Amino acid sequence: MSLSFTWLGHSAFAANIDGHPVLFDPFLSNNPLAAASPTEVDAEIIFLSHAHGDHLGDTVAIAKRTGARVVANFEIATWMGKHGVQDTHGQNPGGSYHHGFVTAKWTVAFHSSSFPDGTYGGEPNGFVLTTGSGRRLYFAGDTALFSDMKLIGDMGIDVAFLPIGDNFTMGPEDSLHAIRFLRPKLVVPMHYMTWPVIDQDASDWANRVSSETDAQPIVLDPGQTYSVE
Ligand code: NI
Ligand code: MN
Repeated sequence: MSLSFTWLGHSAFAANIDGHPVLFDPFLSNNPLAAASPTEVDAEIIFLSHAHGDHLGDTVAIAKRTGARVVANFEIATWMGKHGVQDTHGQNPGGSYHHGFVTAKWTVAFHSSSFPDGTYGGEPNGFVLTTGSGRRLYFAGDTALFSDMKLIGDMGIDVAFLPIGDNFTMGPEDSLHAIRFLRPKLVVPMHYMTWPVIDQDASDWANRVSSETDAQPIVLDPGQTYSVE
């Protein structure tokens, strides 16, 4: 049973769950930090937190090329189907579904969501993935800090992916509160450094995580992979 993840820049990750490739929010084409091309990434499932262009990204092209299932909220799943994606699956907050090798539970996120053309994209989300060996990942998506993260923490989180960029999402300070609520073993920062407005000092953040929480910070360079022991 294996678990690894590679940061592709912004909130895009390529994870490998027990040999199955998955993608989170694969925004690559216009991503200044992109560590992979949309023509080379592989996926059996693409998980999407919300419809904003810096998350939806290259999902349609990747799903068409790879045949990956797109898992997102109902509105995005419907939109994907209309844009030629064959395998779509809609979920909404509170709902879990078993996708063969991984179970996904959809959660709330406090943010906004619209498609690149401005139309309504449903509510923004995060998700909790449980692997076959019982490992749990929480991908927060774009969100503010919210106290119900305590309830997500009660599920027992091994790895939390949290935005730290500020301005559009929680910043470093609020992420420390989030980490205390979530109590993950490992925490991975995302949604920072892409543009000047969300520039942050990740080593500064990591030092604070280490000294002020029980979590281990995992700061990746774009393209870098971390394997969970
Ligand atoms: Ni967003
Ligand atoms: Mn975003």
